[in-house]
Amino acid sequence: MSLQLSEKTNEKLPATVNIVEVGPRDGLQNEKQPVDAEHKIALVHNLADAGVTYIETGAYVSPKWVPQMGTTTEVFAGITQQEHITYAALTPNLKGLEAALASGVKEVAIFGAASEAFSQKNINCSIEESFERFAPVVEKALAKGVKVRGYVSCVLGCPYEGDIDIQQVARVAKKLFDMGCYEISLGDTIGVGTPDKAKAMIAEVAKQVPVEKLAVHFHDTYGQALANIYAALQMGVNTVDSAVAGLGGCPYAKGASGNVATEDVVYMLNGLGIKSGIDLTKLAKAGWHISDTLNRAPSSKVSAALRAAQE
Ligand code: HMG
Ligand code: MG
Repeated sequence: MSLQLSEKTNEKLPATVNIVEVGPRDGLQNEKQPVDAEHKIALVHNLADAGVTYIETGAYVSPKWVPQMGTTTEVFAGITQQEHITYAALTPNLKGLEAALASGVKEVAIFGAASEAFSQKNINCSIEESFERFAPVVEKALAKGVKVRGYVSCVLGCPYEGDIDIQQVARVAKKLFDMGCYEISLGDTIGVGTPDKAKAMIAEVAKQVPVEKLAVHFHDTYGQALANIYAALQMGVNTVDSAVAGLGGCPYAKGASGNVATEDVVYMLNGLGIKSGIDLTKLAKAGWHISDTLNRAPSSKVSAALRAAQE
C-alpha cells in the first residue's frame, strides 16, 4: 500500500537531476579563513573524482570586494580539466569576462538580483544598470563560444528589503534569459523560503522562462533547503545548486549560511531513486578534506552521519 503511494508520488519527480556544485565558489567566497589555490585545486579534483559534472570553480570579481576569490586565475591554471566536466566562473562585467577568457574558461555566469538594495550592495549598481553591464558580457561570451548561466538573487527575500515581489523575480529572470543565458538559477540567498512560497515563485517565473531552463539555489539558513528542493522537483525543475559540506554563505548577505550541502541533496535523491551520477562516499570524503583544511565540521547531517559510521 505505502509502496504504491510512493510510486505514485514519484511520478512527478524527474528521473535524473543535474547537480551544480558551487562549493569552490559560493562556499569558499564566504569562509573567513582564506584558502590557498593548492587546496582549492585539490577540492575541485576531489569533486570531479566523486562524479560531479559541473563545478563552479571561482569568480573573476574584484579582489577588493571578495578577496577569497583572488586566486581564481591560479586555480584555473592548476586544475586538470576533464572533457565531460564543466568548470565555470562568475563574471560580473567585461573585465571579469576578459580574465576568464584569458584563463580558457568555457562557461561563465552573470549574477543579478530581484532586489534593488541587494544589487547595489553586491555589484554596486541598480538592477537596470546591471542589465546594461551584462548584455555585452553575454554577447562577447557567446561570440567566443562560451556558455552563460544567469543567477537571480533574493528570489524569496532580501536581507535589506525583506519580502520580494515574485513578479520582479520573473521579470529579472526573463531579462537574463532573453539576453542569452541558457539557464536561470533562482537564488534564495538568505535561505528564508519555505516550500509553498518556493512553488509560487517558481510558478510565476515559469510563465516567463520554461521550467526546464530553471535551476534552484537554496542557502540553508533556516533549514528549509531540502524541503524547498523537493517542492521544486515536483514543479519540474531538474537542476539543483549545492555546495559540498554546506560551505559558505554570501559576503553581502549578513547571517546567511552556506548553500544546502551536496551530500544532503545526493542522499535525498538516492532515496527517491533519482540519478545524479555522484558517488556519495567519495563526495563525503571531498567534504571532510576541505572541512579539515578549514578546521571546522561540515555543515551537513549526512556527512556527519557517514563520518560517525566510519569511526
Ligand atoms: P565597482 O567598484 O563598481 O567597479 O565594482 P569599477 O568598474 O568601478 O572598478 C573598481 C575597481 O575594481 C577597479 O580597480 C577595477 O579594475 C576593479 P582599481 O582601479 O580601483 O584598482 N575591477 C575588477 N577587478 C577584478 N575583476 C573584475 C573587476 N571589475 C572591476 N571583474 C564589481 C563592481 C562588480 C566589480 C564589484 O562590485 C564586485 O566585484 N562584486 C562582486 C560581488 C560578489 O562576488 N558577490 C558574491 C557573488 S554573488 C552571490 O554569492 C549570490 C549567488 O550565489 C546567488 C544567490 O545565492 O542568490 C550567485
Ligand atoms: Mg549563493
